[in-house]
Order: sequence, then C-alpha cells, then structure tokens
Amino acid sequence: MRLVILGGGGFRVPLVYRALLADRAEGRVTEVVLHDVDAARLGAIARVLDEQAAGVPAAPAVRVTTDLDEALRGADFVFSAIRVGGLEGRAADERVALAEGVLGQETVGAGGIAYGLRTVPVAVDIARRVARLAPDAWVINFTNPAGLVTEAMSRHIGDRAIGICDSPVGLGRRVARLLGAEPRGAWLDYVGLNHLGWLRGLQVDGADLLPRLLADRDLLESFEEGKLFGADWLQSLGAIPNEYLHYYYFNREAVAAYRGAERTRGAFLHDQQARFYEEMRNPEAAAFKTWDATRAEREATYMEHSREAAGAGERAPEDMESGGYEQVALALMRAIARDERATLILNVRNRTTLAELDADAVIEVPCLVDASGPHPATVTPLPGHATGLVCAVKAVEREVLAAAESGSRATAVKAFALHPLVDSVSVARRLMDGYARAHPGLAYLT
Ligand code: G6P
Ligand code: MN
Repeated sequence: MRLVILGGGGFRVPLVYRALLADRAEGRVTEVVLHDVDAARLGAIARVLDEQAAGVPAAPAVRVTTDLDEALRGADFVFSAIRVGGLEGRAADERVALAEGVLGQETVGAGGIAYGLRTVPVAVDIARRVARLAPDAWVINFTNPAGLVTEAMSRHIGDRAIGICDSPVGLGRRVARLLGAEPRGAWLDYVGLNHLGWLRGLQVDGADLLPRLLADRDLLESFEEGKLFGADWLQSLGAIPNEYLHYYYFNREAVAAYRGAERTRGAFLHDQQARFYEEMRNPEAAAFKTWDATRAEREATYMEHSREAAGAGERAPEDMESGGYEQVALALMRAIARDERATLILNVRNRTTLAELDADAVIEVPCLVDASGPHPATVTPLPGHATGLVCAVKAVEREVLAAAESGSRATAVKAFALHPLVDSVSVARRLMDGYARAHPGLAYLT
C-alpha cells in the first residue's frame, strides 16, 4: 500500500513514519512517497527517516520527489500536511493581527483567516489533481486551519477528504485517565468545528462519567483544560471545551500574553526549525537525535502563552508524549484499508448531525469508520451559546471559501469583519491591507 505525504519535508513527518514502522499487520503501508516544494527539506527529513528505519525489518520504502503529479499517481492514501508561506508566513499572520490588537493564532481569528485565504487555493489545486490522477485515493488532511481546508477539498473529492486533529483525542484521553477509564473504551460525546468543540459526556458501558469530574473542583483543576479554563467556568458550561476555546473565552488575556511575549509561537517555531534544517546541511550531523531534541522543545512549549495567561504552569509529561496525531491518521487508514471498524473524531461533512448547519459543512465529530469511510455518529445537540459560535465561525469559513474562489478582496474583508474575535469593520479592512502587504500568496485577491 502506498502512502503519499504532501509537505513531506515537514517537521512532523518522522512522527508518522514512526507509527508506520510500528505497524506490522497485513496490508500495512509498504511504500512512502514524500513530496515537497523544497528539495533541501525533503533531504533533511529523508535522513531522519533513514535513521529511524535502521534495523527495522521490512521498513516501508521511502521515495522523495518535488513533482506533485508524479507523487500523486498510484496513491492509495494521501496525507496533506503543507504550510503555504512557511513558518515565516505563520509569524506574519500573528504579527499583523497583534499590531491591530487582535489574535493572530494560526487557526483562530484573524490569523486563521489569513492562513486560510492563502492555503485554500493550494488545497483546491491538490484536490483537483487527486480527482484526476488518483481518483480512488483518500486524502487525510492535517493542514491547518484543518476544518476549513478539508471543506475546501471536499468540494472536489467529496467524502474522500477527511480532516484530522489530535486535540479532541488528547482531551478525551486526559479526561478518561482522570476518571480511571480506559481511553479506548470510552465514548466521547464531542462535537463542533475543528478547534471549536466541546466534550459534553464521556460514556463507559452506558454510564456518563463526566458529571463526576464536573462536580470535583480539585480533579477539574488537575489537568490541562481545567487549568486553562478554571473549575468555575467549566462548571458553568457543564462541558469541557477544546483548549483552543481559550482564545475565545479569555481573549483579552490571550492577546495580552501574545503581545507581551518575546516571540510569537510562529516566530519561535520558525527560528527553531530553521536551526534544525540548517544543521541537516552538515552530512555528519546526527539527524534523528537533532530532530528529536527539536521536537521535544516544541512539545514542551505548546500553547505556552495561553498557559501563561491562565497561570496554568508547565505541561504534564504525559501530554508531551505526542502520539495523538499520527495515531489517529494510522487508525483511520487502517479502518478504511482493512475494514477494521473504529470510532474516531474526524473532520467530515455534517450530513444531518448538527441541525443548524447544512449537509456539506465540515464539522468535527466522532465517526464510525469502515471500508466505506467515516460516518458521523449521533451526538447530543449543542447548547445555544455553542451553536452561536459554531454558526458564526462557519459563516466566516464560507466567506473565506467564497473569497478564494472568486478572488474578491471585499469578500475576504467580510470574512475578517464577521469573525467574533475581530471587533470592527475598520480593523478588518486594515487587517486585509496588512496581510496583503505581508503575503505575496494573497495577490490573487483584488
Ligand atoms: C495541536 C493542534 C494542531 C497543531 C499542533 C502543533 O496538535 O491540534 O492543530 O498543528 O498542536 O502546534 P504548534 O503550535 O506546535 O505548531
Ligand atoms: Mn489541530
């Protein structure tokens, strides 16, 4: 079975390869094709994979290419993990927004819109090529903003575009552990959009264990989301929000922390990864060791500004294992390729799951997956406040998709202006101007 990874020179590819190396089952991936627009990055990552494969019998063969069509031909699965504009682009997304006093996170608020505006046209081009060159392939999208990008691709390849994110899994795992439940055996009543969802129940053998957690203040404040949001707010909500909702519920504090930081997340990762890829130019450098040390530092500093704003302290060691994202991708691929039924939280088209959204809106929801693909499960309806946010953000995503399709700058301004975290139409206009100046990839908007 052949897996193609777009953004194959990307930093997280060795995590995927590690998961593939551990898979010994029949029908596993035997061939990996890495595609990237940057040959030097491909070379660096290929060296890491080579060291990972040393001594592993029948390790999946790795091939690299900078030719997209060649990469896609004959693919069974495509992982799309690209970053249009690179980490420099991510840092600019943050900078321009912060200069206007609003959040510039890569998936939430103005930053997510800017990133979406330059990523959607590229993702659509990829989806069209997949439809032509590998019509039976499944595309598993990791590219952020993951829900929006998956929806853009689904307009061309339908339900063969599936988005993944590890944040709901991480949340479910933390809550299950706290309640003494086995994460795999627990049913998560979770729904929303990517980075905008709520866990409303955790069922084991038909019993909902979440009320026990919500009633126990000490237990509530003992884990990541509890530390970020505080017990009072979680009790008021009666649910555990995805960690990215911190940017909504504590927006002022998050913006202040980002503004006060020496470097934004994007700028930090940019410098960190530039060092890694630079070191890989030295043929003597220990590729895996260097990569792994860089990865560990990235994990340890994940969401550090939000944690700082909330006084949440350091991350828990078990949250830094990293094993969410590639495990979801592998489980999804297995379920489809081998018809091994699995329940996974994925970004797929709504169908009739959330009554307030249309059938084609991509949402994040537990799905039953088998050889025919993912099927959204029935979940408890969202309360009004959550529905309000989901509908507002989906409306923004739709404006981004419309702007990307038409090239209309006015529509892009509308996307910024309608976002709940952008507080004025004048700010939206200035954001558009600032982003157009910062990103050559937005020149198509006129
Ligand atoms: C989580 C999020 C992803 C994000 C990743 C890395 O897993 O769900 O969407 O890409 O963290 O975040 P970072 O800030 O390190 O790039
Ligand atoms: Mn994510």
